[in-house]
Amino acid sequence: MEAEIISGTEIAAEIRGELKEEVKELKERRGVTPGLVMVRVGEDPASVSYVSGKSKASEELGIYSETIVLPEDAGEEEVLAKVEELNNDPRFHGILVQLPLPKHIDSDKVLNAIDPRKDVDGFHPVNVGRLLIGEPFFMPCTPHGVQQLLVRSGNSPEGKRVVICGRSNIVGKPLMAILVQKKKGANATVTMCHTGTKDLASVAREADILVAAMGSAKAITVDMIKEGAVVIDVGVNRIPDATKKSGFRLVGDTDFEAIKAKAKAITPVPGGVGPMTVTMLLVNTVRAAEMQSA
Ligand code: GUN
Repeated sequence: MEAEIISGTEIAAEIRGELKEEVKELKERRGVTPGLVMVRVGEDPASVSYVSGKSKASEELGIYSETIVLPEDAGEEEVLAKVEELNNDPRFHGILVQLPLPKHIDSDKVLNAIDPRKDVDGFHPVNVGRLLIGEPFFMPCTPHGVQQLLVRSGNSPEGKRVVICGRSNIVGKPLMAILVQKKKGANATVTMCHTGTKDLASVAREADILVAAMGSAKAITVDMIKEGAVVIDVGVNRIPDATKKSGFRLVGDTDFEAIKAKAKAITPVPGGVGPMTVTMLLVNTVRAAEMQSA
């Protein structure tokens, strides 16, 4: 039987509908408009596209947003000074510094400078620690989006064996921290695979839910999937495609077409995890505005 396609676009729209009401209420009850500021350094094409998507989505919900663009050769001190200024700007409840930063800037230093109460990415060490002990201010957007995709598509991870491929600080590690908690929508048995994993295929085949987040085009092949598994593809890889005006197309970290015939459900790329990441950023921004105006 062909797999069900879990539409991130549809689930994201559902959450944005709920959030729009919360934004309206915040304005009416407390006179507060949630504010999000994004800092982009340089002109990396993917970052330009992501930041403009986040800005547009904010506007649609009635969230005030600004994007600050610094030149590629901006110094670390300049970026740190900008973050400090934004920490003290009451218009903005959330601050996002788009990654990756140019190589001459120490990303950790910049992320550590963001006020944890405004850290809507959930990347500050304080927030990483809070997430691990199950008391988050903010859950990182992509892994939180993955959890919502699972729960809202009727594939709750509770009691399931989840295999996460990829140990990044942005996706793999925080997703592990979310799904192991003794909480609703979590409580899973989580295995983390990475480049040091021996015989990835045999570990992956144990997954009731497999999450591909290694950043490698079509790396998860159909032989690595158990019949009836749920597959979440976090990958966004640009591969050359002469038939496209842009010269490229997007593919995930899984071999979607082949896996579709074997899995119970799978997320597409694009239209799967991507819209959820943006949506969970908006969720965090509204949460930040609520916390700061309480
Ligand atoms: N670059 C890729 N994903 C993300 C994200 O979730 N947040 C930020 N700030 N940068 C990213």
